[in-house]
Amino acid sequence: MDIFVPIVLLGILLIVTILLILADRALGGNEEKTITVNDKTDIPVEGSDTLLNNLSDADIFIPSACGGKATCGLCKVTVKEGGGERKPTEDPFLNAQEKAKGVRLSCQVKVRSNMKIEIPEGMMEAIEYRAKVIHTKDLTYDTKLVRFKLIEPKEISFKPGQFCQLKVPGLDVIRAYSIASDAKVKDTVEFIVRLVPKGKATTFVHKAMLSGDEIILTGPYGDFYLQEDSDRDIVMIAGGSGKAPIRSIMYRMQDLGMPRKVKYFFGARTTKDLYYTEEFKAIEKKYDNFEYIPALSDPEEGDGWEGEVGLITDVLDRLTGDLSQSEAYLCGSPGMIDACIKVLNKHNIPKDHVFYDKFD
Ligand SMILES: Cc1cc2nc3c(=O)[nH]c(=O)nc-3n(C[C@H](O)[C@H](O)[C@H](O)COP(=O)(O)OP(=O)(O)OC[C@H]3O[C@@H](n4cnc5c(N)ncnc54)[C@H](O)[C@@H]3O)c2cc1C
Ligand code: FES
Repeated sequence: MDIFVPIVLLGILLIVTILLILADRALGGNEEKTITVNDKTDIPVEGSDTLLNNLSDADIFIPSACGGKATCGLCKVTVKEGGGERKPTEDPFLNAQEKAKGVRLSCQVKVRSNMKIEIPEGMMEAIEYRAKVIHTKDLTYDTKLVRFKLIEPKEISFKPGQFCQLKVPGLDVIRAYSIASDAKVKDTVEFIVRLVPKGKATTFVHKAMLSGDEIILTGPYGDFYLQEDSDRDIVMIAGGSGKAPIRSIMYRMQDLGMPRKVKYFFGARTTKDLYYTEEFKAIEKKYDNFEYIPALSDPEEGDGWEGEVGLITDVLDRLTGDLSQSEAYLCGSPGMIDACIKVLNKHNIPKDHVFYDKFD
């Protein structure tokens, strides 16, 4: 090969790099800018990193379960000024109302000029925690309970149902996990993590993470939590690790003396996928108001299963009456949640009485 070819290629690369730096400067990359949050906090910014990263540098932790890849849709903030044009990557996550209000995915917005943004006050409560693994337990062949002791800060306050984010050490990976523990216990948090084949975070948690390891968590996040000012009957529906936030909500319901009627449907494939059955059956024994309905879609011959059989949607449909005065809490895969909401709608549940977290 002619020795001039690599030299020419290197020259082209150098020119392109210089042009990109000049373009970035021309677009305001090097000037100091200000992000004004909720009309009261000014954050000075240099460079042209994303809004998400700039907020994180200023200790404002926006949920970002995909780590900025525009696949989770959790990092929404309202941009009042600045921010430039919306990118096509944002469109699938924003409805018409959000687009009209200026809601953006903060991981897709580069800070190239002064900006004014609005963030729900609840989101400003999320902070970073150093935490240590103190206990892990296999709940099924693919699902683990993990307990972390908080090192700094030493305590967390959260609403039952909310989630945290876990940073996988050594990888640029952040994932969301619902808090499965009792909100009264403030110095530890528990998560229920289901192994996803080849999944980055879950493979780390299941195969590499050891007792004593230090981990960074951020949180709490989310608007999926028990609506305590309501006295409506409740339908809860979960599949797989979706039991995590429901477990936390159930701790709270018991502290309140189970004042509302609760029917909890848990969908699994076989008996091997069931866990905490005894724990929830014990609550059922204690409170007339609480009913736990595990249902198997594919029970195996000879496993002695005498409970409900069928897809969780069919079982829900069969065992549910009029829901016009009820509210519902759903957690699990997006497919399961969408299918169950259709069934709830069929039973007249009002739209604004349905709360869910999709684990995608
Ligand atoms: C608000 C919220 C709360 C959550 N709470 C929990 C929780 O309590 N417990 C829990 O286990 N998970 C929970 N999740 C899901 C979790 O954040 C991760 O997405 C999941 O653990 C997979 O991460 P990973 O890095 O191992 O897989 P990735 O490396 O992200 O994914 C690897 C591959 O598997 C696919 N994939 C990702 N997730 C799934 C899945 N669930 N089933 C099948 N395929 C999948 C991906 O599309 C990709 O192709 C929650 C998600 C959200 C948004
Ligand atoms: S961080 Fe996931 S979409 Fe922005």
